[in-house]
Amino acid sequence: MAPNTGKINCHSTLLIHFKLPLFSGNFLFCTTMYTSLDEKRLFDQAKSILNTSSDANPEESINALKEVINFADWKYYVQSEPVLADSEYDALYKKLKQIEDKFPELVSPDSPTHRVAKGISERFPTVSHLVPMLSLDNTYNAEDLIDWDRRCRELAGTDNITYCAEPKYDGASISLIYENDMLVRGATRGDGVMGEDVTINAKQIKALPLSAPLAQYGINRVEIRGEIVIHKNVFEAYNRQRTAEGLAPLANPRNAASGTLRILDPAEVRKRGLNAILYHISDYTLLAGSTRPEHLETHYGSLQWLYSIGFPTPAKEMKVFNNIDEVTAYCHEFEAQRDDLPFEVDGLVIKVNNFALQDRLGMTSHHPRWAVAFKFKARQGTSKLLRVEFQVGRTGAITPVAKIEPVHISGVTITSVSLFNEDVVREKDVRIGDTVLVERAGDVIPYIVKPITDLRDGTEEPIKFPTNCPVCDSALEKQPEEAAWRCINIGCPVQVAERMIHYVSKDAMDIRNLGGANIQKFYEMGLITDIPSIYHINWDKVRTLGGFGAKSITNIQAAIEQSKTQPLNRLIYGLGIRFVGETTAKTLAAAVGNIRELYDWNIEQLCTLADVGPKVATSAADFFNRRENREMIDSLEQSGVNLENQLKGLAQPEGAFTGKTFLFTGTLSQFKRSEAEAMAEAKGGSILGGVSAKLNYLVVGEDAGSKLDKAKKLGSVTILTESEFLELING
Ligand code: IVH
Repeated sequence: MAPNTGKINCHSTLLIHFKLPLFSGNFLFCTTMYTSLDEKRLFDQAKSILNTSSDANPEESINALKEVINFADWKYYVQSEPVLADSEYDALYKKLKQIEDKFPELVSPDSPTHRVAKGISERFPTVSHLVPMLSLDNTYNAEDLIDWDRRCRELAGTDNITYCAEPKYDGASISLIYENDMLVRGATRGDGVMGEDVTINAKQIKALPLSAPLAQYGINRVEIRGEIVIHKNVFEAYNRQRTAEGLAPLANPRNAASGTLRILDPAEVRKRGLNAILYHISDYTLLAGSTRPEHLETHYGSLQWLYSIGFPTPAKEMKVFNNIDEVTAYCHEFEAQRDDLPFEVDGLVIKVNNFALQDRLGMTSHHPRWAVAFKFKARQGTSKLLRVEFQVGRTGAITPVAKIEPVHISGVTITSVSLFNEDVVREKDVRIGDTVLVERAGDVIPYIVKPITDLRDGTEEPIKFPTNCPVCDSALEKQPEEAAWRCINIGCPVQVAERMIHYVSKDAMDIRNLGGANIQKFYEMGLITDIPSIYHINWDKVRTLGGFGAKSITNIQAAIEQSKTQPLNRLIYGLGIRFVGETTAKTLAAAVGNIRELYDWNIEQLCTLADVGPKVATSAADFFNRRENREMIDSLEQSGVNLENQLKGLAQPEGAFTGKTFLFTGTLSQFKRSEAEAMAEAKGGSILGGVSAKLNYLVVGEDAGSKLDKAKKLGSVTILTESEFLELING
């Protein structure tokens, strides 16, 4: 290993500050990189900088803020363990920017503020790779692996080969060059010889360090390869947002990652939350007088070392084996758990561990001989497109849905696949009667990859889009900037029913037991006609319907009654204003004392709120301007529905759980969900809408389902019973 002087240079990251004294000599295999003591010191320092307005020691402040932000990025993006609330992170970032603006001479190129690139590139320049970016040979079963192992042993002239197995990430490959400790270039694979220079975008990926203490290990320049990925939850959230905006969702995380990497607007790239995993050192040069460091003798050692100095590598996921049978067993074991990972994997990559042996094996023009991919079973299948139905959503958007011959893909039978919108249908040129390739990856909804045009016999028919609503027959309309055709008749029966279903849903007014099926039934019977009518159901008539016991009626009535006291943000969300999701509803509710105050807000005023842009503002202003919506609100008030926000102007309370996140799932028996949420919020905690790496506590009631499974899989979430939650919250 290179001599470890423990010296801290001006670009050294936090890892070096804290680790060298602790781990000098045994740096390579430490698993935890920070002690709680280090964190505490760091956060205390950052806090005191936030609370002072003096510029007494700007350099020290800049360094401390840089460290804590880099640390938070590393914890969040590399370790999936958030250590700061978004607001805290933003405050630190803002402070750093403030000091840097005042003292530009103190700004270094690896400052986190440099991740923000200004302007939009015209297009990316083409660059040559230092070493060609090859592909991998594929294996699909034990025999293939045994063959590969035999070839390796023959070529290497030894039976003693150690293999490393690590996930095969399904994203976009990238090459990164670090020179003099700085990230100087990021390039896409391109044709393997030339790629696109996407350095600006690579810098938006917070998992990638902008600088790393490589010189301390005698390294002058290194090229590291890896994969840019999108976590499944980030991908789903992004697609939800796209669908809400009337845009076609992106097909899968792989396409999303490679498309995002090539977006010309770095600010947009940053927003999309890409992640990265680095799995190969393809080239390096040493500083004059340095000898090759010990950790560059094996693949395993090299990735553990990279991880220990701040790079995102599969350090925790990779395994070493001494023979191919163990490798094969692991491949099958791992395949069974592929859905548990936060990102998509399509196999494992098996690599000869020893670099000297790798060199002996060499490569073909297509792939290295020392590595092979073990591909998991395809999640694709073919089927026939029988017909297309057109569904009307809550906002009137028309979605074409392909009805296909049943096809079994990874344990699920698929008969229906969304075609999203007309643009997607035209782009794919998919026709009725086509044989289509269908893909279903993990939790991601199934989609049609493409029609298999070679199998066409000329009888296939183009998909015709309706000009009128399939439900109410009104003429459909399409805004020039939107992909979806819409039925703009707000009285369209499907939309009315969908609006009511949304109003009673769990995240809106949470009127349990009055779910979609009952709403449909009551609506068809004329017992409800719109949202306000939910509060005037003729229960005598319901009793005569049959199918409703006295107990279930009492339960529905109680839930309707309880909904009247729901906080204002839930009402605003439940009204189903286009583009207003749960978070925006909270923002709007927090800005007023009573919902009617929003009647007077114009687009400019609305835009001053956090996260409200012109599109959301226009939609909200339009909603509150309409007479029929104001009448609906009047009518809800007459039924006793709360329109007030008693907490207006009060800052989020500070408390023992500031920065901590909670989520409640299953049927709670000791308190109402809203009460429990209020308890957590009163102590500074915030409530999340779903299980993600950002979640700290999941409180489970009875019959907890997928959220509990997901939290268990993540491993980073503390799971509490109701009583444990009470104990925690009451200190
Ligand atoms: S090693 C010369 N390791 O799979 C080194 N590749 O199908 C070759 N990939 O182009 C790459 N995960 O983009 C390697 N753990 C991993 C990988 C990996 C994903 C990608 C890579 C490659 C493609 C080949």
